Amino acid sequence: MSAAAARVVIDLDIPGPTISRHLYGHFAEHLGRCIYGGFWVGEDSPVPNQGGIRLDVVEALRDIAIPNLRWPGGCFADEYHWRDGIGPREERPRMVNTNWGDVVEDNSFGTHEFLALCELLGADPYVNGNVGSGTVREMSEWVEYLTRGGESPMAALRRANGRDEPWRVPFWGIGNEAWGCGGNMRAEAYADLARQYATYLRDHGDNTLYRIAAGAADDDYRWTETLMKSISCIGCGDGPKDIYQAISFHYYTIPGPWEDKGDATRFSTDDYYATMVKARRVEELIRGHAAVMDVYDPAKKIGLVLDEWGTWWNVEAGTNPGFLYQQNTLRDALVASVHFDAFHAHADRLVMANIAQTVNVLQAMILTDPESGALVLTPSYHVFRMNVGHHDATALRVHVDAPELHREVDGRRLELLSVSASTRGDSALFSLTNLDADRSVPVVLDLRGRTVVGQSARILNADSLQAHNTAADPDAVTVRDHDVEVVDQPYGAGIRVELPPHSYVTVSVTLAGSAP
Ligand code: AHR
Repeated sequence: MSAAAARVVIDLDIPGPTISRHLYGHFAEHLGRCIYGGFWVGEDSPVPNQGGIRLDVVEALRDIAIPNLRWPGGCFADEYHWRDGIGPREERPRMVNTNWGDVVEDNSFGTHEFLALCELLGADPYVNGNVGSGTVREMSEWVEYLTRGGESPMAALRRANGRDEPWRVPFWGIGNEAWGCGGNMRAEAYADLARQYATYLRDHGDNTLYRIAAGAADDDYRWTETLMKSISCIGCGDGPKDIYQAISFHYYTIPGPWEDKGDATRFSTDDYYATMVKARRVEELIRGHAAVMDVYDPAKKIGLVLDEWGTWWNVEAGTNPGFLYQQNTLRDALVASVHFDAFHAHADRLVMANIAQTVNVLQAMILTDPESGALVLTPSYHVFRMNVGHHDATALRVHVDAPELHREVDGRRLELLSVSASTRGDSALFSLTNLDADRSVPVVLDLRGRTVVGQSARILNADSLQAHNTAADPDAVTVRDHDVEVVDQPYGAGIRVELPPHSYVTVSVTLAGSAP
């Protein structure tokens, strides 16, 4: 059954902010099989690897142009002592990973291995330092170890460990979830610590750090305000002090209660809609944190960073509850696509986001089989791939005219059509998600301001929302070409595209006329 046609009006010649490619960032924690078995198999593994790093994982992530990778946590970051992860592997001290499964961490994947991984991926490193159980000196020396050329105690130590040249490390996290696993701090206490730590995170040579203060959970706007107040004030002439450059927040899509978050693959249509209400809430949260920041920083000097997001389900039966291993269905892919639409709409303030997590943990891009080593690309991976064209493109404002495309879910209104758009030179990319579980939605893109001279579309869909990819059926949810039709519109070009139930579609167009 098909709904009434929706109209989406887009002015191709009115540019918005740049959609930073870093909104497509990733997160790899020492958690379950993300690092060990996911990225890292060790040099002696039969799985093809370079210096212990899985090459199939690297290749898959290069195909989605992974822009940055956050490491080593998460909660793990605030118990991690970086000196345990350098030098000969057999001599590295061990520790207990108290946050995740209570397993022994042998530190075989440490600083040099992480930076080698980033080099293979072509991704910028985002290192998260330890505030909760570390020291200012420890974090400051880690920055020196990583980024200082020439002569210095830490540069000498790095060289003794086999790396002559410093690395370029642009992104630095000052602790993680300081309100919880990162030290159970009050916002005021953390705000002071963030200033102190940031002071000693030096720029060495031409490595300019982008320091990210650990931010709020969900809608804790008071946390964001406390951090903003500590570096700025209302009406300050000069805006915020240049101590840290961004503030993060975390938001997970968890429709059920914490004790029973729901099953990744067995869920009802009602569960699905409840999930989508939670997923779409991300826009309300970005808007809320951004509004608080606007008061103290109207010029938008301080970035907002959503450095953990994604679905969080009950773990798969038979797996370690501390390893957070979950399957990934078409539902997860639609959670991702509506997040990206929200990110694009707020690209003026939101500068970075990191899906949690890249391999084998939570809303992963890639699942690997612990026995055979087989690699599976998840439906969420395909959304990242379809959206590469948005990286560093210019956002376009979209006006959706679809008054019927919504439903009430537990007293909340769920908009069923989600759209975003960007342009770059002589092309434009439109992302369209139909969240309706049962009905097709015909959409007419009413494109104004430039001439459209070519068009094509791709679709991610499957027969059911529960569809997912496995080693036995790796393409149950995959991307295919999709039809579009050119139609007349009174003010510009028209493209009609049918969105089947629970589908994600991208439409690419080639443009003539001058670029904005
Ligand atoms: O991503 C899993 C965990 O979720 C992270 O370690 C922590 O920061 C968050 O609570």
